[in-house]
Amino acid sequence: MSSKPDEKGINQWLHVDQFPEHLKKYWFQRFKIWEQYDKGMWMTEDAWFGVTPEPIANKIAAHIAESAPKDKAIIVDAFAGVGGNAIALARSGRWERVFAIEKDPKTMKCAKHNAEIYGVSSKIFWLTGDCFEAINRFAGSKNVVIFASPPWGGTEYGASDVFDLSKMEPYNLDKLYKSFSKYSSELVLYLPRNSDLNQIARYAKDGKKLEVAHYAIMGASKALCVYFGDFNFDVEEQES
Ligand SMILES: C[S@@+](CC[C@H](N)C(=O)[O-])C[C@H]1O[C@@H](n2cnc3c(N)ncnc32)[C@H](O)[C@@H]1O
Repeated sequence: MSSKPDEKGINQWLHVDQFPEHLKKYWFQRFKIWEQYDKGMWMTEDAWFGVTPEPIANKIAAHIAESAPKDKAIIVDAFAGVGGNAIALARSGRWERVFAIEKDPKTMKCAKHNAEIYGVSSKIFWLTGDCFEAINRFAGSKNVVIFASPPWGGTEYGASDVFDLSKMEPYNLDKLYKSFSKYSSELVLYLPRNSDLNQIARYAKDGKKLEVAHYAIMGASKALCVYFGDFNFDVEEQES
């Protein structure tokens, strides 16, 4: 078993009786979220709402690896959280460098620890801070892909049939797209499953289509990714 957290707010829950009552449903999902949960993953309470479940993170990492332009060597996870996507991106083995940005130091500590459990901590460059500032270090780089799984403003997004991305808190679609597309034309946004596709379509360039993929567990969509830029999914389509 891995080391125990030494800071309040960082938790390693290994027994159901330690687990916070208001989060109980996540206890039953823990192995869907982390296949190696019982090796001692660290989590904050907030992280349960936002972490990308491992099978989905792996699928997204595989899709990005297959479809991104071959000359792109660096991937940046702008909202790394406790590491769900950053770990999967590093494990894909596709990237020369994986950068993980997270503004909350406790959440970042969890991500580093979790990446150690998965054996990829040393493959990830960790940047603690605001992604809208940290991303500046990639100004002028031509070989970067940006992946972003922003907060969705709590669980309220599920209340409507179609989620208005202009109202997403604290960063709406326009803020995310404008902030990140300055640094890379290849941008993947992980958004609520009921996101308004008409709003997304407005960002398609030069009459080109945008790729949108739903990611499901047990047949139910959990989220979608929008692939902005020159991702090529033709190979996979021919195979399937
Ligand atoms: C939905 S969670 C990401 C979950 C992550 N994909 C995972 O699997 O663990 C969003 C994260 O973004 C962080 N965050 C919010 N605003 C940020 C900012 N401006 N810069 C960097 N991180 C930020 C939050 O602290 C939170 O951990």
